[in-house]
Amino acid sequence: MESHQFCVLILHYSIFFALQAVAGFMSQVMGTTVSFDPSRLVLTSGATPAIETLCFCLADQGNAFLVPTPYYPGFDRDMKWRTGVELIPVHCRSSDNFALSVTALDQAFNQARKRGQKVRGILISNPSNPIGNMLNKETLYSLLDFAREKNIHIISDEIFAGSTYGSEEFVSMAEILESEDFDKNRVHIIYGLSKDLSLPGFRVGVIYSFNTSVLAAAKKLARFSSVSAPTQRILISMLSDTRFIQRYIETTRERIKKMYVAFAAGLKQLGIECTKSSAGLYCWADMSGLIRPYNEKGELELWDKLLKIGKINITPGSACHCIEPGWFRCCFTMLAEEDIPVVIKRIQRVVET
Ligand SMILES: Cc1ncc(COP(=O)(O)O)c(C=O)c1O
Ligand SMILES: *[C@@H]1O[C@H](CO)[C@@H](O)[C@H](O)[C@H]1NC(C)=O
Repeated sequence: MESHQFCVLILHYSIFFALQAVAGFMSQVMGTTVSFDPSRLVLTSGATPAIETLCFCLADQGNAFLVPTPYYPGFDRDMKWRTGVELIPVHCRSSDNFALSVTALDQAFNQARKRGQKVRGILISNPSNPIGNMLNKETLYSLLDFAREKNIHIISDEIFAGSTYGSEEFVSMAEILESEDFDKNRVHIIYGLSKDLSLPGFRVGVIYSFNTSVLAAAKKLARFSSVSAPTQRILISMLSDTRFIQRYIETTRERIKKMYVAFAAGLKQLGIECTKSSAGLYCWADMSGLIRPYNEKGELELWDKLLKIGKINITPGSACHCIEPGWFRCCFTMLAEEDIPVVIKRIQRVVET
């Protein structure tokens, strides 16, 4: 045996246990009614390359994906930059609490076809970044029906699956596919440890697919963004400690909820409402009453004032392709509880000028 073959063997031996540990962790986080099969899983160095790799596997340059707005700004980078793929925003509105509409998806699909553009799939984040809401079973069913009807794929980014805190249960696409007779081959899940374990610097991401050709291609592409062996070793021992993981997840859920309630209440005192959310490390706040003029320029002016005067950095909705001006995503999990009144005071100071 050549020495490099021996090294490859060791690497494969280690990856087997790492995949098992990550699949076990996903099963633990995403509820009791779904289990993840390690053989359908590809590890990448973070969710960022997982998204790009899937995009390379599913689409050619010039093809497009439908993406409900407001969406995670990183999707533009991950899906478009190196692949030449395009994203078609499908606008959701505050009047429906930013719920996803299949009618709007259908319209966007037909318009793209008229332009001669080939739509290869739908990209969703569930739980949603930036809104923090979750798709219910009925919506997941209608998305799967829509994808079958149009013969397209679904990429479901479920990176916030464990960061939920409401009374609602998170439902993974994997759970639906296990219980009902849908075509599994068109569904691909993104996951990672950056959010639910607060380990963005670890660079561990996941592609979970039911399509063997996609998995085979993704495995080859993942050689360009692999997880280092030392990281795999740490993962194996950390994630296999199911009691620690259980306590960790319970504790973060309690902490996020506490922060959400306190932060949203603080904003409410200033007359700023947040959409009802039950997941994520942020809230989606309506500051449309504070912007002048009522357009993107007004929104960015408020963002600039909050940054320069208030020393508060929040994400303007326009960065998320939100069609209504004046919405902002506020990440509150970086704060300690006692920071909240300070932050609210600073926002108040800006609001009053
Ligand atoms: C919805 C979503 N997907 C993917 C990512 C990227 O995660 P990673 O740090 O693992 O690349 C993020 C991080 O902000 C995110 O919010
Ligand atoms: C898997 O995905 C590929 C890529 O789009 C597609 O061509 C193929 O038909 C899918 N496999 C099955 C069995 O549906």
